[in-house]
Amino acid sequence: MTSHYRTRRLAIAALTAVIVVGLAACSTTVPNTTLEPKTEFGRAIDALWDTLLFWGTIVFILVEAFLIYVVIRFRRREGQPAPRHVHGNTTLEIAWTLAPAVILAIIAVPTVKTIFTTQANAPRGSLTVEVIGHQWWWEFRYPEHNVVTANELYLPVGRTVNFALKTQDVLHSFWIPQLGGKRDLITNRTNYLWFTPESTSVWNGVCVEYCGTSHANMRFKTFVVPPEQFDAWANHQRGGPVFMPAPTPTAPTDTGAGAAAATQPAAQASAPAAQPQTSGSLPTFPADQLPLYAASYNPVPRNLTIGNVTGDAARGAQIYRTAPCIACHVVQGVSAGIVGPTLTHFGSRTSIGAGLFPNDPRHLALWIKNSPAMKPGSKMPPFGKSPTMPAGYDDQQLADLAAYLLSLK
Ligand code: CUA
Repeated sequence: MTSHYRTRRLAIAALTAVIVVGLAACSTTVPNTTLEPKTEFGRAIDALWDTLLFWGTIVFILVEAFLIYVVIRFRRREGQPAPRHVHGNTTLEIAWTLAPAVILAIIAVPTVKTIFTTQANAPRGSLTVEVIGHQWWWEFRYPEHNVVTANELYLPVGRTVNFALKTQDVLHSFWIPQLGGKRDLITNRTNYLWFTPESTSVWNGVCVEYCGTSHANMRFKTFVVPPEQFDAWANHQRGGPVFMPAPTPTAPTDTGAGAAAATQPAAQASAPAAQPQTSGSLPTFPADQLPLYAASYNPVPRNLTIGNVTGDAARGAQIYRTAPCIACHVVQGVSAGIVGPTLTHFGSRTSIGAGLFPNDPRHLALWIKNSPAMKPGSKMPPFGKSPTMPAGYDDQQLADLAAYLLSLK
């Protein structure tokens, strides 16, 4: 009776666990899953996975059923003699060597077929995007449009995109779970990956090959937009920055950079080589409309702080001209560094640090102050004033620099 009771309790516990685990997988928002592919590439891989899972499950059930049968049928019984010991059974040994070999041969057929499909050359008329991996950020080049950008990838819906994958330093790997990948970026070689995004949305991308300290912090966002919007975006990106200054207080806030755009015109004669703009909608994805799963929300180290100051873009522009920033970064018409990510349209990006933090005045000022504290291994040295760097920028100057960069739309 007690054992019967215990069995029932165990069964109820097991059933509860199964229901909880099952329901946990019922979410309709699964933005980072590979199991709901949104491209032909993803579906080819998914179909292969489904096939292998189906046959693998059948083999598993057969083997386990046989095992359980043997365990019960030949269990030790009261008063039975010890079983006879045997050594070697040629028939059995041939059988259990051949069976897996046959199974592997069967699995090889759809696997090799899928490899050929997904490794084929991209169809004619594909949009070429060069992807260049850096420790630890992504550079995206669009040779057809003469556009270079970083960490935010724009793609037109319905057109096949052919990625040419390269690396500037060590090995990286390119992956947008619901669209395609993973494919490695290998030194002295170009790998290709192509697929056709089918729906407009925002997708997260990551590096999936260990590439050093901030491998886990090497992320990017993919914006799949209607073709007209993509063309407008590419036209905008090709040109110089559109200067849209706005007061940028560094007080903690939840609003992204997009919300700060064009609220207060402050045209400055000393502004960079671009016309100050006060209105008009940008062809970039508004930061305040990012879905929650694509938002950047990493914590800032507690001992890294900035005063409550309001940055001034025009002052920031003056500082930038002679700042060490110009050695590594491009701002079209202003600076021509090539080591770091381009900053020409920096203010229209949604995140900084390769997807780590929201691109707002506070995070950006902190980033310039001490980026290695926010992202381990960051190659950009700290520029904030500190006991070890008395010549660094004070909080007001950092806020001004941030205000300037955020005004580059
Ligand atoms: Cu780049 Cu891991």
